[in-house]
Amino acid sequence: MRRKLAAGNWKMNGTGDTLAELAALLRAHPEPGCEVLICPPATLISRACAAVGAAPIRIGGQDCHMAEAGAHTGDISARMLADAGASHVIVGHSERRADHGESDAMVRAKAQAARGAGLVAVICVGESGAERDSGATLEVIGRQLFGSTPDGATGNSTVIAYEPVWAIGSGRTPTLAQIAEVHDFIRSELLGRFGAEGTQIRILYGGSVKPVNAAGIFATSNVDGALVGGASLTAADFGAIVNALENA
Ligand code: PGA
Repeated sequence: MRRKLAAGNWKMNGTGDTLAELAALLRAHPEPGCEVLICPPATLISRACAAVGAAPIRIGGQDCHMAEAGAHTGDISARMLADAGASHVIVGHSERRADHGESDAMVRAKAQAARGAGLVAVICVGESGAERDSGATLEVIGRQLFGSTPDGATGNSTVIAYEPVWAIGSGRTPTLAQIAEVHDFIRSELLGRFGAEGTQIRILYGGSVKPVNAAGIFATSNVDGALVGGASLTAADFGAIVNALENA
């Protein structure tokens, strides 16, 4: 059985005082009935890990460099994230792909670096609005998935997040049938490439997940949880999404 995962991506939001939201989440969910992951900005990873302590909430990074170390000013390696206490790292988020020109090959190298450092890679894929409108969604997702996922991916090393670019931060989501179509497609691609291990890799939906739409999304075929941006910033909203996943 795949363990459900509620992942929060704080993006470039949060300073020390924001950890009060993490503390409130911990108080409301001391023993969550699903896996819970918060990816704060890198500056907060150590403090977030200290705040979580022995509680079963995981802390992750939002990106890592593909190299282990070296002359890459401003970048952070997977080993540095692990050293700071992270257990996961998001790679290939559409904002990284757009703002930093990250290609599928780069994302795959980052996912490999994450595995090398013992981190779970949360690999993001998603079509643009124009790609969906032109009927290219599955072709785009298939290409990104193949190009961004390393050989030998397992359920322990890898999570896939389907995040339609046009749904991120927009308040718009695909229909549940559209989400099911893409998630079922990703599952079949994973099975084709990784065999039985493909059943173990979790597939998250991301893009305007809110307390009001979470239950429907979590009841959708092959949805194993969510990657949540805006609604992960407050304990009230993210806690409601965790509740919905616990009850799914
Ligand atoms: P959103 O972001 O929930 O604010 O749409 C999701 C994401 O980018 O991971």
